[in-house]
Amino acid sequence: MFRGPRLAAEGHSSSDEVEDMSAPGLVQQLRRWALTLTLGLVAALAVHLARVFPWYRLYLGKSPLWSLQQVALQPVSNEGLCFSPNSAALRTADAASTAPIGSYVTAGLDDGRCFHYASRFEPYLNHDWKNTYITKTQERLGLQDHTIVTNDLIWYSNLLAEHEPSAYPHIEWSKATRPSSCPTRKLSSSPSNASTRENKISRVAFLLRCYQGFDWTQDAVLHMRALIWELRTARLAFDVDVHLLLEVKEAASHVSMFSAAGRRQILRGSIPIEFWSMVTLWNESEMLLRYPLYGDLRAGIAAAGSYRGCLLAVQRFAVEHPEYDSVINWEMDTRFTDTYDHLLAAVQKYAFRHQAQTYTKWPVKDREEDASGIGEQCKDKTPDVVVFSPVRDPQDSGWYWEYDVQGYAGMESTTRAASVGTNLWLSRRALMALENVTATQHQSLFCEAIVPSLVFRSTALSLETSDDYCTEHFKLVHYPHPMAFQYQAPPDQLDRLLNPSSAKLAKHNEEALKDTSYYYTSTIAGQLYGRWQTETKACIKPLLLHPIKSPARSSEAPRRSSKILTGWLTGEGSLHLCYASADQQCSDTIRADVQRYLGRKLDRRNLAEPSAISSHDTQNDYRRSIDSEQELRPIWVQAPDPEHTSG
Ligand SMILES: *[C@@H]1O[C@H](CO)[C@@H](O)[C@H](O)[C@H]1NC(C)=O
Ligand SMILES: *[C@@H]1O[C@H](CO)[C@@H](O)[C@H](O)[C@H]1NC(C)=O
Ligand SMILES: *[C@@H]1O[C@H](CO)[C@@H](O)[C@H](O)[C@H]1NC(C)=O
Repeated sequence: MFRGPRLAAEGHSSSDEVEDMSAPGLVQQLRRWALTLTLGLVAALAVHLARVFPWYRLYLGKSPLWSLQQVALQPVSNEGLCFSPNSAALRTADAASTAPIGSYVTAGLDDGRCFHYASRFEPYLNHDWKNTYITKTQERLGLQDHTIVTNDLIWYSNLLAEHEPSAYPHIEWSKATRPSSCPTRKLSSSPSNASTRENKISRVAFLLRCYQGFDWTQDAVLHMRALIWELRTARLAFDVDVHLLLEVKEAASHVSMFSAAGRRQILRGSIPIEFWSMVTLWNESEMLLRYPLYGDLRAGIAAAGSYRGCLLAVQRFAVEHPEYDSVINWEMDTRFTDTYDHLLAAVQKYAFRHQAQTYTKWPVKDREEDASGIGEQCKDKTPDVVVFSPVRDPQDSGWYWEYDVQGYAGMESTTRAASVGTNLWLSRRALMALENVTATQHQSLFCEAIVPSLVFRSTALSLETSDDYCTEHFKLVHYPHPMAFQYQAPPDQLDRLLNPSSAKLAKHNEEALKDTSYYYTSTIAGQLYGRWQTETKACIKPLLLHPIKSPARSSEAPRRSSKILTGWLTGEGSLHLCYASADQQCSDTIRADVQRYLGRKLDRRNLAEPSAISSHDTQNDYRRSIDSEQELRPIWVQAPDPEHTSG
């Protein structure tokens, strides 16, 4: 009796408690959990940020600019075709300073040599080359600042050079040679030993990957001339031919790159006429057809697209040009600050002598040499792959392309490697294996991983069998070129900053790599280059800089866009190219020339457009600004913009 109500009361109260739990009590509990979870996440994030945060930037001093020395100005060569690039090299006053990363001695580069920007590049502006079509065009339009070169100017200069070659002359760099009548000079320092040429000299194709909409600045044009001339006049143990692989964007697909007229129209808007004979055209749909690769890892990025499959065009070139024993793939935004013959001679010598390597590190000064080599294997043998950045393991790395393994039976557990950046020197044997893997086996990886991985998978490729390790395996060498680091770090610390303790491609080294002069997100490569360009006495030592993005354009851009805006507001029919012209007739002159040479009216403001007719100027400007940024960029977790590949 007594119990009943009590029980009932208890029962009541306990059921009240349950109700409490199911309403505000549960909410409170959930809140507590949410709070704990949030705190946990915040703490984890804080720990992560503390780990990747570049603390050293707060306390380490900035490095002195050891790569730039002040050297008195020398007269710039005006010899034209008799110009010998190595004769323009100067001696640095202070040869003792050394690079914190890499080594001049090990890399075989001359630490005592340096160049003024003017001594290296300005000789190519001389009239004696009979290559004045751009300058003459600037004069015709009343453009006073001859250092400003834009794609519009190139288009119009090309048009004039095509139709009035005597008034707007250009040189054919693919045929230019130093006449034997030129005075022979004793070179103060010849980096490459003119080796005794054997019966068969090996032939190297130096390929530069370019695309429609690439920004041709004066620096880009002069750099290209220098690169070609330095390699054409070099005394090297091999012959080098320079080629440009031009990617035709689909935006121009109403012209065909397979017809002579189409090719001419594409070239006119994309490449200075002096380099036309070196150009091979290709397009992405061609690669998609030829290389039916699996893979849909990232939306909007085709497995064989020009971004993920950036070496497919290089493979095609190698297949179509059996005359070359090896191929160098070079990005347009890389600069070597000494002559290219010096670089290639040094790379070839180092790679030939060095043992075969697997995973490698950034070589830090005063640290013991990278012990990643495979014993003495492959010393004094021709290399198959030379890379310019360390070879690392992408597995469990957090790399953006870590899980992008397509067509391999082992999937993500497949043994592989990656080296950030796509400047590479590849043997024909390696190129043919790449071709087999992609075209026949339909296997692929992101293009920064496919070549180093090929080396790790040599045994799966059924290369020739033999007792010799180097016949059965590819020989890979990482060339330890000297690099600048923005901060003064003791070697041990620098080593820790740049090199993870394991072979992994580790994300927490990323910040430190940005402070080096050769990394796709380098903050100092462009600064160093800019100082070299603008400080007349700055004499730079041999250094590979990457990336160098149109330095002339960045200073010019605001001026141009305000001019463009003025053009829009005033509504005058003035062409973009004429905004900087003092000549009132500038636009009329261009219109009349287009009418005369192409038999059509010019009804757009932007000449270098691939499109022949365009009433959508603004849209096209936008498109072009997207296209021209197409570049191999993101490797860590930020997603690439699929626009960059879709053209
Ligand atoms: C360069 O060539 C000369 C003569 O052919 C030879 O005596 C010399 O040892 C070579 N130097 C180097 C660094 O290979
Ligand atoms: C690109 O290549 C495809 C396949 O070969 C071809 O059909 C297309 O016309 C090409 N585009 C241009 C602009 O030539
Ligand atoms: C391509 O690779 C496969 C497997 O590795 C091999 O059996 C075949 O012979 C190779 N083909 C060529 C043309 O090299």
